[in-house]
Amino acid sequence: MTILVTGGAGYIGSHTIIELHKANHEVIVVDDLSNSSKESLKRVEEISGKQVKFYNFSVLNKDKLKGIFKTNKIDTVIHFAAFKAVGESVAFPLKYYHNNISGTVTLLEVMSEFNVKNIVFSSSATVYGDPARVPIDESFALSVTNPYGRTKLMMEEILQDVYRADNKWNIVILRYFNPVGAHKSGRIGEDPNGIPNNLMPFISQVAVGKLKELAVFGDDYNTVDGTGVRDYIHVVDLAYGHVSALKKITDNSGLNIYNLGTGKGYSVLETLHAFEAACGKKLKYKVAPRRAGDIASCYALPDKAKRELDWQATRNMEEMCIDAWRWQTNNPEGYKSGK
Ligand code: UD1
Repeated sequence: MTILVTGGAGYIGSHTIIELHKANHEVIVVDDLSNSSKESLKRVEEISGKQVKFYNFSVLNKDKLKGIFKTNKIDTVIHFAAFKAVGESVAFPLKYYHNNISGTVTLLEVMSEFNVKNIVFSSSATVYGDPARVPIDESFALSVTNPYGRTKLMMEEILQDVYRADNKWNIVILRYFNPVGAHKSGRIGEDPNGIPNNLMPFISQVAVGKLKELAVFGDDYNTVDGTGVRDYIHVVDLAYGHVSALKKITDNSGLNIYNLGTGKGYSVLETLHAFEAACGKKLKYKVAPRRAGDIASCYALPDKAKRELDWQATRNMEEMCIDAWRWQTNNPEGYKSGK
């Protein structure tokens, strides 16, 4: 199949392209490089030995987007392109609504015009808000606490409406838990702008000496050691989840929603200690106040994806840390580290 990957130069997108290539799909990428670099695609090509056709513009550019559909026979779209920083979304909500919501609506309009009605959508466990209990299954109530999360939930709802109006669409919504780790080659990985917001990239930068110490946001949660518990999933497992979703799409199966997680929760301190084992150093940390909007525990019940997509995560925390560490040491400045 020919797959259009929006946001394909990003962290999850780049890993997904490798899995798509392995499964013999042709890949076309559209990405405005607002939070990614072309270097990632160069390295994807080097890893998979296959070419990626690349268009450098935003999905908001309707005319140019139509051009892609005119010149290529697209079977399915995997839609990653979106802004994703929670704090920034609180400060600049309109930037988030414009890019994420208008971008998705534009993409869906163009797909509709060219009669391409298959889409895999990149959603997030953030749509569960503060869950009533764990593990979380797909039927849990949805609620969000910030504009970023609201865009993910709205995009899910837009897709539901599109499907209700025309059931020829085939839609898979994937709710990711916490993607971490990197490709085994150490050539592609997560490359956050500035100081990382998320735990694993922050720990990696402490380990490589770029940051002094980890601030653990709260040690008084009702969890195993008082620190926040999350379901960290290796990005390569997550990437492969998209290949499994594509198989579902060819089944003409309508609209389906799946959690992609491991089903296991790790606390901040457990994650830190796993990383220490991977990098062979003790890492400095201090306990800091809770971060606004954080919840105690969040982990998936991933059984539906196992049952219906025949997918499950196979890489454990040790592998996540070893792979994240390899990427960090080989590329201390991310893609700017050069060849
Ligand atoms: C965060 C976002 C979530 C988004 C996801 C994308 C917030 C509130 N939530 O999820 O909406 O979908 O990233 O990847 O930003 N922690 C520390 N010190 C740090 C960083 C994190 O102790 O420097 C703790 C957090 O309190 C949390 C855990 O580590 O308990 C994981 O944090 P993070 O990696 O930011 O992910 P989430 O908060 O789960």
